[in-house]
Amino acid sequence: MKTNAISGRLGAWALSALVLTSCSQKQEGAGDKGSAAGDKGAAAGDKASKPAEIKIALLLPESKTARYESKDRPFFEAKIKALCPECQILASNANQDASQQQAQAEAALTNGARVLVLDAVDSASASVIATKAKAQKVPVIAYDRLVPGTDAIDFYVSFDNESVGRLQGESLLTALGNKPTARVVMINGAPTDNNGMLFKKGAHSALDGKAQIVKEYDTPDWSPDKAQDQMTQALTALNNQVDGVYAANDGTAGGAIAAMKAAGIKPLPPVTGQDAELAAVQRILLGEQYMTVYKAIKPQAEAAAVIAVHLATGKPVPTDITGGKTVNNGKKDVPSVLLVPLAVTRENLKDTVIADAFWTTEQICTNQYVEACKAAGIL
Ligand code: BGC
Repeated sequence: MKTNAISGRLGAWALSALVLTSCSQKQEGAGDKGSAAGDKGAAAGDKASKPAEIKIALLLPESKTARYESKDRPFFEAKIKALCPECQILASNANQDASQQQAQAEAALTNGARVLVLDAVDSASASVIATKAKAQKVPVIAYDRLVPGTDAIDFYVSFDNESVGRLQGESLLTALGNKPTARVVMINGAPTDNNGMLFKKGAHSALDGKAQIVKEYDTPDWSPDKAQDQMTQALTALNNQVDGVYAANDGTAGGAIAAMKAAGIKPLPPVTGQDAELAAVQRILLGEQYMTVYKAIKPQAEAAAVIAVHLATGKPVPTDITGGKTVNNGKKDVPSVLLVPLAVTRENLKDTVIADAFWTTEQICTNQYVEACKAAGIL
């Protein structure tokens, strides 16, 4: 099973974590960002007895998509705490507002962050953030979303995002019986997200010439509501004649499905997704959504945490973390960790999402899903 490959990499990181010596050495002198103004973490009286805190900023992009607060943040925080008990995490969520993210990044820098782990709301303003950080000699890890066109990024930790789009496109073709006449509506992600562009490119590489793309939209802010509006428009224009829906993630899939239900479409055509959100996994069991892409967020968040702690404590990042892999962002070859995404349908839910305890059967198979869980052989 491919998830073993993911855990295999994790073994290497766990090992490199051991290489980390204590992070508790005193941070002193001009470079002591732990004691910068606004440091609420260590009271003045503590300073003689306790080492200065090492601050690591985690800048998340939004909260409409469940993964950030329910998976990325807790996995990242747990790993940082395990590797470096003295480290303090300055976590923020920009709620899809690029200027808010810029303000949050500036606050983190003022507050003495030694590294920024940045999941960018939008590529352009993320580049401004990275440049500011670089001017203060603060390294930046592009988390999940690459920041293109800047040399101020030190690492990139993500999945093979073009392959996410390809998996979605290929699964949809399978669900449609590989019929070139099948009518597909494409609901892409946000055009301001570098990943949105990569998913779209991967999906087109699978779908073009193999199905008819009858309508296509980009979804500003990845908003499920906007996806729903777009799907409603498509249904009106197409007189409800839709054979399949490419939705770039589970949030937009939820919007598209809501639009189709409201239009009375029955049975629902196959719909793709991404993130293995709990609601999407449950829709897959009910047959409302055809597939999702499972990205094991734990190894992603943990890789970012390992790199962040090394950078924040001034230690060289072990090369086995990236294995020498780089991704060119238009300005430099960025050392990168790229994990492998998996296509998940009802058939392999058990061997992927459940086997990894991403969601437990107890979480998935609540009241209204018990029968569907039994039918799918997961209860
Ligand atoms: C992430 C997806 C997520 C989407 C919306 C993308 O950059 O890779 O996992 O669903 O953003 O937040």
